[in-house]
Amino acid sequence: MQPKKLFDGVYIYDGKVLTVNLAKRHKVYGEELFEMEGVEYRSWNPYRSKLSAAILNGMKNMHIRSGDSVLYLGAATGTTSSHVSDIVGNEGRVYCVELSERNMRSLIEVCSIRKNMLPILADARYIENYRDMVHQCDVLYQDVSAKEQAGIIKKNAAFLKEGGYAYFAIKSQSIDISRKPEDVFDEVKAEVSDTFEVVETIRLEPYDEMHLFMVMRKK
Ligand SMILES: C[S@@+](CC[C@H](N)C(=O)[O-])C[C@H]1O[C@@H](n2cnc3c(N)ncnc32)[C@H](O)[C@@H]1O
Repeated sequence: MQPKKLFDGVYIYDGKVLTVNLAKRHKVYGEELFEMEGVEYRSWNPYRSKLSAAILNGMKNMHIRSGDSVLYLGAATGTTSSHVSDIVGNEGRVYCVELSERNMRSLIEVCSIRKNMLPILADARYIENYRDMVHQCDVLYQDVSAKEQAGIIKKNAAFLKEGGYAYFAIKSQSIDISRKPEDVFDEVKAEVSDTFEVVETIRLEPYDEMHLFMVMRKK
């Protein structure tokens, strides 16, 4: 049996989401590697990656494609961004912004093997610090555990082409631990509505609690 194609560069096999490994025989976070008919696939763990969780929970709007340039905010140690790197391939590019120096050390190792990933040690609240390094992007992806999540994605929309898609993992507890997640999500949706049209929202349970994953289109 062959893996079934879900989207460009994204497959499913035996209940597992897979991408084609751009860096053969290299793992990023201990994920399983499978070889089938000469192609090496990497298992994409939904408990470790919100994008994989959203895909397994039925996300319909996957607009990250081969050759795309992606601005990824909150790249941490490269778990999800490495799968994005598999999808966009050698003709694409993933600009990986991360604030923590500790995470950046591991991320740099991943980027040294994957030539389409560019590490940027910076605070995504201050886009002027990386404006010269990032070109206009097809896709914006944000997963930062910061209070000002809505403000950050709105500022970084400056790097997104008109009509480009944004993928936004909202963590209600980083914004306000004392309020109901649904109220926090509604407030964030209202806050970004002048910049983005919300195309799809996906809850991430059972893989992640208290998160909403939004697919948005730049107005
Ligand atoms: C939940 S983790 C991201 C996990 C990652 N997206 C993945 O799936 O592989 C959130 C990351 O956001 C980073 N972060 C928090 N505030 C930030 C900011 N203002 N600018 C850039 N990164 C930030 C944290 O250091 C952390 O690594």
